[in-house]
Amino acid sequence: MKVLIVGNGGREHALAWKISQSQRVEQVFVAPGNAGTAIDAINIPIAATDQEALIQFAKEEQIGLTIVGPEAPLVDGLVDAMEDAGLKVFGPSKAAAELEGSKVFCKNLLHTANIPTATYQTFGSAEDASRYIKERYSEPESSVQLVVKADGLAAGKGVIVCDSRSEALDAIDRIASRREFGEAGNELIIEEKLIGLEASVLAITDGETIITLPAAQDHKPALDGDLGPNTGGMGAYCPTPIVNEDLMEQIEAEVLVPVVHAMKRARRPFKGVLYAGLMLTATGPKVLEFNVRFGDPECQPLLMRLKSDLVDILEATADGRLSEMDPLEWDDRPSICVVMASEGYPGEYEKGRSITGLENAASIDDVKVFHAGTKLENGQVLTNGGRVLGVTALGSSISNSKLQAYKAVKEIRWPGAWCRKDISDKAMKY
Ligand code: AMP
Ligand code: GLY
Repeated sequence: MKVLIVGNGGREHALAWKISQSQRVEQVFVAPGNAGTAIDAINIPIAATDQEALIQFAKEEQIGLTIVGPEAPLVDGLVDAMEDAGLKVFGPSKAAAELEGSKVFCKNLLHTANIPTATYQTFGSAEDASRYIKERYSEPESSVQLVVKADGLAAGKGVIVCDSRSEALDAIDRIASRREFGEAGNELIIEEKLIGLEASVLAITDGETIITLPAAQDHKPALDGDLGPNTGGMGAYCPTPIVNEDLMEQIEAEVLVPVVHAMKRARRPFKGVLYAGLMLTATGPKVLEFNVRFGDPECQPLLMRLKSDLVDILEATADGRLSEMDPLEWDDRPSICVVMASEGYPGEYEKGRSITGLENAASIDDVKVFHAGTKLENGQVLTNGGRVLGVTALGSSISNSKLQAYKAVKEIRWPGAWCRKDISDKAMKY
């Protein structure tokens, strides 16, 4: 079978690497891909947003399964368009992808289905939202514990955690007046700030059967100790000991099963990856957000540990016969992924810097360097994005995986390269 993967990040490199190991797969194409997918698969110069060209390519090449990696083409309806053209695709429909595409839709669904989440209000204008803050917190110096969120997609950056009234008003201004995140700011949410540890629980579902994957933990803030601005994710590890078996059962029963049912009832049956971003609070797990795809970087350590054939499971999901599948097999060893980023990320950064040391890093045992923002030019690997590489390693314990990953990180250089030094440290307290 031939497989097409849509996207160009670290997640898509991990998918291409894993899928190309399947006995059933003869060729893996990635559109548009990066320098890493050019090595492990075949890059096709078609943008993830170019539905027409993707469909034409998939038809011409007789692609047996397409996997859509990122949220934007899912929210734009790529899965619907491909299915209409008679192609087999893994991923949710446009209507189902709204779970990630609109935080207002997501919060309203959670509320209706009685799924635990932060209390919230939605607003259609900066004026209404600002008035709400000013009325609720009359003193300018008031301390508040709120989170202001843009409704739409904003590459993980449209969420602003606020500790003062002025921060909340500034967040509203950025999202809904200055439109820093464009149309994503047409509506906004103000919600209660939750306190606790964060975990990512991903499940694969065909709308009937749910297969939960081992829990992972992302590191969204840019700097060590969870300081600095939010990013798309600076590193992840899996499994995380903060989600034990009992808690996983609770998350399945209180979050995953009800949301799959609620989506079915809303006539938006969900198939694909359902990613629950959770805050584990003193009063139980609460949903921060849903994503409708593999997390990036959670996908990298997850797939490094997966022993089963990923194509079988993704195809069964697309076919609606997940209930027939054997349980997934996992490597017992934990895995961690350290993201190496460009100078300036998550703000402005330059591209085109030459990366060295990739071969040395790759020669370290149980290490795989997944590419994210890279491109190949005249045989040279150049930086081409904010999150550049996801250095991923397996080890006999979380601390050994960490040692192994950072050993590989040390080998890799480009001017301005940086990473968090504390990925997985949160697991050490358990
Ligand atoms: P989201 O994209 O909604 O997951 O938000 C990105 C990050 O913002 C999350 O990973 C949390 O760290 C933080 N965040 C979002 N909502 C809340 C909340 N209600 N309370 C505390 N932190 C939050
Ligand atoms: N790792 C967070 C995300 O993929 O949105």
